[in-house]
Amino acid sequence: SPGAAAWTIGVSQCNLGEPWRVQMDADLKRAAESHPEVQLQFNNAENDTLKQRAQIEEFVSAGVDLLIVSPKEAQPLTEPIAKAYDAGIPVIVLDRRVLRDAYTCFIGADNREIGRAAGRWIAEHAKPDAKIVELQGLMTSVPAQDRHSGFLDGLGEAGQVIFAADMQWLEPQARKEMDSALARFDEIDVVYAHNDPGAHGAYLAAKAAGRDEEMLFVGIDALPHEGVAYVKQGILDATFEYPTGGRKAIETAISILNGEEVPKNIVLEYATIEQPSQRAAPAGL
Ligand code: FRU
Repeated sequence: SPGAAAWTIGVSQCNLGEPWRVQMDADLKRAAESHPEVQLQFNNAENDTLKQRAQIEEFVSAGVDLLIVSPKEAQPLTEPIAKAYDAGIPVIVLDRRVLRDAYTCFIGADNREIGRAAGRWIAEHAKPDAKIVELQGLMTSVPAQDRHSGFLDGLGEAGQVIFAADMQWLEPQARKEMDSALARFDEIDVVYAHNDPGAHGAYLAAKAAGRDEEMLFVGIDALPHEGVAYVKQGILDATFEYPTGGRKAIETAISILNGEEVPKNIVLEYATIEQPSQRAAPAGL
């Protein structure tokens, strides 16, 4: 029919429970608006790996022209992605990596580098030998593994992790884990959470225990209406912007569909957002 899109892009989103993922879908949609030649079809796997596998397979049998996948976990989603790719469907993997390189292009920020920046920030702003609670994202996903190892690297000898738990990227889970940490430790100087929902859950737990003033809260994501707002409200001390990559994914998809070569790996920039009072004095003052 006249005006029909030439290409269909299937988007396999691992969940829409977190604001960051809602933003990713919105960014994809927005970027596609200026490209009438493509039509997006969204699927939400509701944080269920098996469901995401099935949805990727459905996109393949439906014969989409290109797939954008933001996978929940690395290992179990490597195979369905590889199968789509081997069947000749270009695949863009967004944000969370899979294990092999059987895909067309990976787009995401460098989580190890972001973790390192968080570690360095804490080394510079916390008291010496700080006692740290680390609330980890889902450790079967690569961003959580990288935000953990990068963090330890950036922190160096400046503090010690006295409590670490996997909160699976989820705010209610983070709040629960923080309740345990608060019950076990009289002194907590810093909470480092792998995302802002986690940091906010920890803050709510500490506030309910009357202990929020005692410690620094550091998160990752920095959505304007989430992490950045928390920093403005004085809830978080710092957060690191983790771009969704939505716009880049659509641009890259269009290039691929037009038969152009694209890089195997596209690294997005990140930024630091912090309380003005925490900003380091310029050198020389
Ligand atoms: C959302 C999210 C973000 C985080 C990203 C890591 O599902 O947990 O908060 O930055 O995924 O993949």
